[in-house]
Amino acid sequence: MGLDDLGAFKEENKQDSIDEFMKRISMLEERNLELVEEARRVEGEKRFVEGELLRLQKELKRLKAELERLKAPPLIIGQIKDVLSDGRVVVKSSTGPDFIVNISDYVPKDNVEVGARVALNKQTLAVMGVLPPSLDPVVVGAEIIEKPETTYKDIGGLEPEIIEVREAVEDPLLRPELYKKVGIDPPKGVLLVGPPGTGKTLLAKAVAQQTHATFIRFVGSELVQKYIGEGARLVRELFDLARQKAPSIVFIDELDSIGAKRLDMATSGDREVQRTLMQLLAELDGFNPLGDVKIIGATNRPDILDEALLRPGRFDRIIDIPIPNVESRTEIFKIHMRRMNIDDTVESSELAAKTEGATGAEIKAICTESGMFAIRDNRDTVGMPDFEKAITKVMHQGDEIGKPQESGPMFA
Ligand SMILES: Nc1ncnc2c1ncn2[C@@H]1O[C@H](COP(=O)(O)OP(=O)(O)O)[C@@H](O)[C@H]1O
Ligand SMILES: [Mg+2]
Repeated sequence: MGLDDLGAFKEENKQDSIDEFMKRISMLEERNLELVEEARRVEGEKRFVEGELLRLQKELKRLKAELERLKAPPLIIGQIKDVLSDGRVVVKSSTGPDFIVNISDYVPKDNVEVGARVALNKQTLAVMGVLPPSLDPVVVGAEIIEKPETTYKDIGGLEPEIIEVREAVEDPLLRPELYKKVGIDPPKGVLLVGPPGTGKTLLAKAVAQQTHATFIRFVGSELVQKYIGEGARLVRELFDLARQKAPSIVFIDELDSIGAKRLDMATSGDREVQRTLMQLLAELDGFNPLGDVKIIGATNRPDILDEALLRPGRFDRIIDIPIPNVESRTEIFKIHMRRMNIDDTVESSELAAKTEGATGAEIKAICTESGMFAIRDNRDTVGMPDFEKAITKVMHQGDEIGKPQESGPMFA
């Protein structure tokens, strides 16, 4: 082997090891990339697990709190009967005797007053909190917060009746000094009496719209409840609410459903209705005529109302809402035709002359019907013939009902 051969061999060997190194480097680079990728993945997982840990810690805290709440002993409901000078109070609970107990420091002292509903610790009966007075959701819902759109301008005729209602209801609330000066007691409430559809509810709605007092509306039948004593409780809570929100007006629509005459022979359902009535009478007697609560009642059936309701000092003003006369009918037609597209042939006075005995509700129905006739004919204006057809339809509606059936021909 010559020297040249040796050189060549070395050269070859060097080349080989360079190749070897290159291979290893590229392998290592690949490995490195893999590891970087791995590290990134693990980093992501770690972040996820940390987030999860936080979430679970929060959940654990919530569940522990919930568990605590569930384990907390129930509080007893009681009523404060007296507040002693040393800061302790006499409470009455459903368990029997009255107790003298301490008040928790967390309870604001201002709220601790005789008659307040309170929550008591089960062991020590200490007052843990003062509860808001309980009102039935039905009663709370009776307060009209959104005023109806109806105004006195939407009532046809009835001007003297409107004045009377305002005198009896609004003036004593908003200007009691007038009555004090003259030295008389204003009426406590008014009773609107008239046939169905003459505008009693409408009038009360207009009062609600115009007054600055709280308006509480109730339908008599809502006070007739399933369980004994419930109706009376509702009446009491209704007046509690009225006193809380004073000055206020309580409107009891369809009063006849609770105010019907008390009879000797009565079912238990009737007796329950009577209890409700008695509570209403007690409330009517109980408050001061110059006080801040006024009542409006409405009924179609004065004949079946209990005399006790009509005695002076209760609903001492009874306002008759009559069937409209010809002038009032003209007014009512005008009101309901205001938004209608009518042609020149339509004369409200002529319509009024043709509708002797119609109530406001019937006049409204006539206007609606006449519009229906026009729509049926594909017209967008309403003419006199439409009104004439509508009058016939509405005024003679129900004539057939109740009439004895004419006997048909017999088949013999
Ligand atoms: N005097 C009136 N003026 C205008 N519309 C009236 C009048 N009386 C009744 N109406 C119409 O008849 C509808 C029913 O009247 P409502 O007040 O509910 O009668 P009720 O006396 O039976 O309570 C009212 O919504 C109103 O459209
Ligand atoms: Mg009504």
